[in-house]
Amino acid sequence: MTEQDITLTVNGTEHELSVEPRELLVHTLRDDMGYTGPNVGCETTMCGACTVQMDGDAVKACTVLAVQADGAEITTIEGLSDDGDHPLQESFQEEHGLQCGYCTPGMIMTAADYLEDEPDPDREEIREALEGNICRCTGYQNIVNAVESAAEKMHAEDAAADGGVIEEGGD
Ligand code: FES
Ligand code: FES
Repeated sequence: MTEQDITLTVNGTEHELSVEPRELLVHTLRDDMGYTGPNVGCETTMCGACTVQMDGDAVKACTVLAVQADGAEITTIEGLSDDGDHPLQESFQEEHGLQCGYCTPGMIMTAADYLEDEPDPDREEIREALEGNICRCTGYQNIVNAVESAAEKMHAEDAAADGGVIEEGGD
């Protein structure tokens, strides 16, 4: 099959490569480029293990053809933070938000996009935001704990950066 030239910027680095028009983005990232953070679970849009961010929005990389991502900025779990661990990564460790870890990169990439838009969610909202991500180990309670904890940390960091005072029990 004739390959097509595309450009992908992954975690801030621009790459030029040739791909078959039928190739899924998740395979390009993993097999052609070595970004193995996004996992392949179902390849049918069901599990969310392959979630990355494309131009800032969480997408399931098994639902996007690599050629459709031509020119896009892609962030994988490997590039989520360039300054140590992201608060979500810290909180997933602290709250034991993973067991086998297979779903974890996708969970975190979905949550990171969600918390950008909704910095102070309640537990039910977190569950709804993650409904497209399946944990086969069923560790949802701790996953929600982790996202809740990360949201609090990010809220505190933002307040500190603004030189503000964190309100006790504030919304
Ligand atoms: S591998 Fe993409 S949603 Fe399951
Ligand atoms: S921790 Fe095993 S799939 Fe979620």
